[in-house]
Amino acid sequence: MKDPLNELVDFLKIPSVSANPDNKEDVGRAARWLEERLRAAGFSVEVTPTAGHPIVYAEKYAGADRPTVLIYGHYDVQPPEPLELWDTPPFEPTIKDGKIYARGASDDKGQVFAHVAAVSQLSENLPLNVKFVIEGEEEVGSPNLVPFVEANRERLATDAVLISDSPMFAPGLPTLTYGLRGLTYMEVRLRGLDRDVHSGAYGGAVPNAAHAAAWMISKLKDEMGWVRIPGFYDDVEPISPEEREMWRRLPFDPREYAAEIGAGDTSGEPGYSILERRWARPTFDVNGIGSGYQGEGSKTVIAAEAFFKFSMRLVPNQDPDRIADLTEAYLRQILPTGYQMEVIRYHGGQPVLVPTDSPPMQAAAAALEKAWGRETVFTREGGSIPIVHDFMRVLGAPVVLMGFGLESDNLHAPNEKLDLINFEKGIEASKNFMRLLPEYLKGEK
Ligand code: BES
Ligand code: ZN
Repeated sequence: MKDPLNELVDFLKIPSVSANPDNKEDVGRAARWLEERLRAAGFSVEVTPTAGHPIVYAEKYAGADRPTVLIYGHYDVQPPEPLELWDTPPFEPTIKDGKIYARGASDDKGQVFAHVAAVSQLSENLPLNVKFVIEGEEEVGSPNLVPFVEANRERLATDAVLISDSPMFAPGLPTLTYGLRGLTYMEVRLRGLDRDVHSGAYGGAVPNAAHAAAWMISKLKDEMGWVRIPGFYDDVEPISPEEREMWRRLPFDPREYAAEIGAGDTSGEPGYSILERRWARPTFDVNGIGSGYQGEGSKTVIAAEAFFKFSMRLVPNQDPDRIADLTEAYLRQILPTGYQMEVIRYHGGQPVLVPTDSPPMQAAAAALEKAWGRETVFTREGGSIPIVHDFMRVLGAPVVLMGFGLESDNLHAPNEKLDLINFEKGIEASKNFMRLLPEYLKGEK
């Protein structure tokens, strides 16, 4: 067998970009690559086609009396563009200074493959039954996974769900994440004219869709960071004093956090720390905006159309559908006269909070501690993994979010990377977890 790092290099070479129809073949190839690796590790594997990209399901039994863990991850990746900002090509994995650079290195091929490597190494000494669900559509909102989980409730039955698709709080600091934000993603398209017109002949006398978009955006979130959609905050759970205290003790410097991404300063709702804003407060962000002339030089024109795409990260107790309804109603209210508006709803996802005292969480904390030689910290995260809520709802099993990435891995951006030490420790932690989970479930620990 090749060593795990060489195998990961092969996996990372496949441009499995789920959002781009031109990469459909490649996405399928990544699924088959996993199928082959899991077969080699003694698993029975089934690749289920969907209306989008296939779902890889695999299982290997250690014995009817043994507990079961279900490991979830995704083999699809975000688009690599803008290509010119990569120091080395996104699908030519490059090892440099103890890190592997490639699209998907951290999100999520490197992290999910750590578990595949772990089960290969445990080989015939698997201490428990292992099931894998590895999907190819996480980066596009997992449209086909919920029906798959619902239709396979019995086959997926498990004592714990293990997911590595999140960051550690800091390098060398083993981390378990117990909360993720939810998401509502929408787009507004505005039309003020039936064609673009000369800005001298018409300017000042006709609607300008670019301005309308800007007015509307300014009414959605104010300069202090408060979201102005009526009812938006109604269901938000306040942060408990215990959590605030626990987060205050984490090693975090807001200035370093800003400087690391070249930000002049941090921003957000007054009265909340940066970690509170990211982990326990909802927010609104424009993700894309367009109208008018985008080419070289100048062009005196009033564009007929404008659009903006935006997402709202949601926190426990907020419901993505209700938030979409409130947003749409408010958009209709603030729409200036003289414009036609189309509101599009893309994917959403429920926020989640998982108990930290479940036996699988405690086993995971011990597994990480053993790998890293440091006490595990418990954090929430600002990102979303929509299927977590459905795993809890449909399978009723505790979910463990054991990330091996880092915030600074350049997820969804150029020069994505994974630290090799995190990959190695991830494999070790995975093996530790599989050995420890049975004892913790029996209550022996
Ligand atoms: N790995 C991320 C989720 C993540 C990011 C968790 C940062 C914790 C911290 C995942 O692959 C992702 O990007 N999810 C999307 C979900 C969306 C497309 C429905 C996200 O959060 O934008
Ligand atoms: Zn992602």
